[in-house]
Amino acid sequence: MKTKIFCDIADLKLIKFFNKKKIVDGFTTNPTLMRKAGAKNYKLYSQQILKIATKKKISLEVFGDNYKDIHKQALKINSWGKNVYVKIPVVNSKGLFMGKVIKELCKKNIKMNITAVYTSQQVSKILKVINKKTKIIISLFIGRASDAGKDPIPEIIKSIKLSKKFKNVEILWASVREPYNYIQAKQLGCHIITIPPSIIEKIENFGKSYDKLTIETVKTFLNDSKKSNFKIDY
Ligand code: G3P
Repeated sequence: MKTKIFCDIADLKLIKFFNKKKIVDGFTTNPTLMRKAGAKNYKLYSQQILKIATKKKISLEVFGDNYKDIHKQALKINSWGKNVYVKIPVVNSKGLFMGKVIKELCKKNIKMNITAVYTSQQVSKILKVINKKTKIIISLFIGRASDAGKDPIPEIIKSIKLSKKFKNVEILWASVREPYNYIQAKQLGCHIITIPPSIIEKIENFGKSYDKLTIETVKTFLNDSKKSNFKIDY
C-alpha cells in the first residue's frame, strides 16, 4: 500500500509551489499555520488556497468550540469546494467528545478529517459514530506525543488495525518531526502522512550513501573552521 504524502502548510506561495509537485497528494492546514501565514479573513484565505489547489484534497479546520458552532462552520467550509475535508477536533477545549457532531456530519456525507487525536481509544470512539460510506481521515499527532515523552507507535499501529474494517477511513500521521517519519509511516502501513514543506524537500533527496554523508559532514566542519579562521599554535 502506498503512503500518500500531504503537505502541512498555509502559506499561499508555498502552496502554489508544492501543488505542482507529484509527490504531494493533498494539503492540511490548521488555524495556527493560517495565523503564521498572515491570514486575516478565514473564509477569503481558505478560498484563496482552494483557488490554487483545485484538485488535491485539502483539510480546512473549524474553530468553533461547541456542537452548534462546529456543525454550522463545517457545513459552510464543506460548501467551499469538492476537494475539502472539514477538520473537526476529536474533543472541544473542555475535553468533550465531538461524537454527536461527527455523527450528524456523517449522515450528510461531509468528508472529515478528525484532528488532535492521540490514542487508539479515541480512534475506536470515532469509528463507533461514523457510517461506512463517508470519507474520513483520522489524524494522530505523533510528534506532539513524542515531544511529551510518549511512545506514539503502539497507538498508531492499533489505530491502523482498527481502521481496517472501514474502507473509507484513512489514518494520517500528523505532527512530523523528521524525514525518517515517512519511512516509519510507510512501514506501519499508514494511509497518509502530512509533512511540513522543508521536510518534504529532504525526503525528495533521500538516498545519499554513508560515504557521501561522512565526507559532506567533514567538509562542513572544515569550511566553518576556515571561515572563522580558527587557529591552534603548535
Ligand atoms: O496540522 C496538524 C499537525 O501536523 C501539526 O503539527 O508540528 O504543529 O505538531 P505540529
